[in-house]
Amino acid sequence: MAANVAPEPATAVVEKVELGRADPARIAADLEAIARIGGGEGGVTRPGYSALERQAHDLVGGWLADLGLTVSRDAAGNTIAELAAPGSKPALGTGSHLDSVPGGGRFDGVVGVVGAVEAVRLLREADVALGRPLRVVCFAAEEGARFGQACLGSRAVVGIGASDIDEICDEAGTTRAQAMREVGLDPTDLDRARWDPRDWAAFLELHVEQGTVLESQGVRVGVVDLVSGSTRLEIELVGRASHSGGTPMVGRSDALSAAAEIVMAAEHVTTDPRHRGTRATIGRLHVRPGNITTIPGYVACTLDVRDVDSDRQRLTVVEILRRAAEACARRGVSMRVRLIGDTSPAVLPIWVRRVVTRAARDIGVEYRVVTSGASHDSQSVNTAVPAGIIFVPSRAGLSHVAEEWTDAADVAVGTDVLARSLVELDGELAAIERIR
Ligand code: GLV
Ligand code: MN
Ligand code: MN
Repeated sequence: MAANVAPEPATAVVEKVELGRADPARIAADLEAIARIGGGEGGVTRPGYSALERQAHDLVGGWLADLGLTVSRDAAGNTIAELAAPGSKPALGTGSHLDSVPGGGRFDGVVGVVGAVEAVRLLREADVALGRPLRVVCFAAEEGARFGQACLGSRAVVGIGASDIDEICDEAGTTRAQAMREVGLDPTDLDRARWDPRDWAAFLELHVEQGTVLESQGVRVGVVDLVSGSTRLEIELVGRASHSGGTPMVGRSDALSAAAEIVMAAEHVTTDPRHRGTRATIGRLHVRPGNITTIPGYVACTLDVRDVDSDRQRLTVVEILRRAAEACARRGVSMRVRLIGDTSPAVLPIWVRRVVTRAARDIGVEYRVVTSGASHDSQSVNTAVPAGIIFVPSRAGLSHVAEEWTDAADVAVGTDVLARSLVELDGELAAIERIR
């Protein structure tokens, strides 16, 4: 894989650049301002392709315009702000997403956007001009919570996803195309969002860990090597609803009993020693008719299987479905399965990771190399542009819930590593460009 080939060692060019340190108070204020959009007692609800997501993009776009960047919105709804540089070298990019799961936290995605804004401020304040454009990207609709498939905005920039805009839909039946139109985007234009990889040199994303490794080891920064893939299914089970008192236990076709077997099959398969590291989750379950006194005749549920091993991810799905089919056959329940999202694991390029770890060392920040259990925009970006991910700790590892928390001081440390990494990437790339 070309992206994994280590370039020549960096030159001394980056050593002269002095950046100030990220300001936790500024970061906390930015996080708070974004959290007010869709945030409340029950957490943050800012779905992809919603008016609230657009509001957050407009807010951040305004900040970036005030910092002197040229801000635009692409056909997928991604906000892209460019800090120009003389010449026509491929750009460095940084950013993340601004949508959330329902009742989610205020840090997932937002930290990468706020960190990117703060990194631009640090460059500005130190009067550091990179030798290439720096683009801050707020990706649209990263969370698969609404449409099943994650990373819709970042997939669009690498040319994936334009063909199924009328097929993927949310729980209310709103298709992605309809949702995009509702917020003023033209889904038929999606191909225009595609990046020319020759125009991009590398991309870095700051993100919360959404796990416990950093906190448990007392380390404030993680540098990601692998990102898990995810296969998501919607499973519909159709049995026979009838009276809960009048119907004997034998001979029932209880769709919920079949679903219960699927839940347990998912757990059994993924706790098998051969599946160490695979995660399977049934996160949504609709039961109909939903009466105390009626046997459930219909269940719709989701299955989300995550793994860093691409084959094992798909084989796990096959094995859970095999057991599900067997349970359904035994119970006289029919099963329909629909694939609603599929993303392969990603191995992030070693050379980008090396630049980030060197940057962390240069500014005296201890780090660990960690693996991501969650999906990220950089995973899509990396299919066309070499990408790296920097993690900051999540309190108790909690994420996708209102309790999600990362201290602004930790976001600031991650931002310092991000900003320094951008400078060092610029120097590293310049060194390569000189010999090519
Ligand atoms: C995105 O946050 C995901 O991994 O679901
Ligand atoms: Mn995220
Ligand atoms: Mn998320």
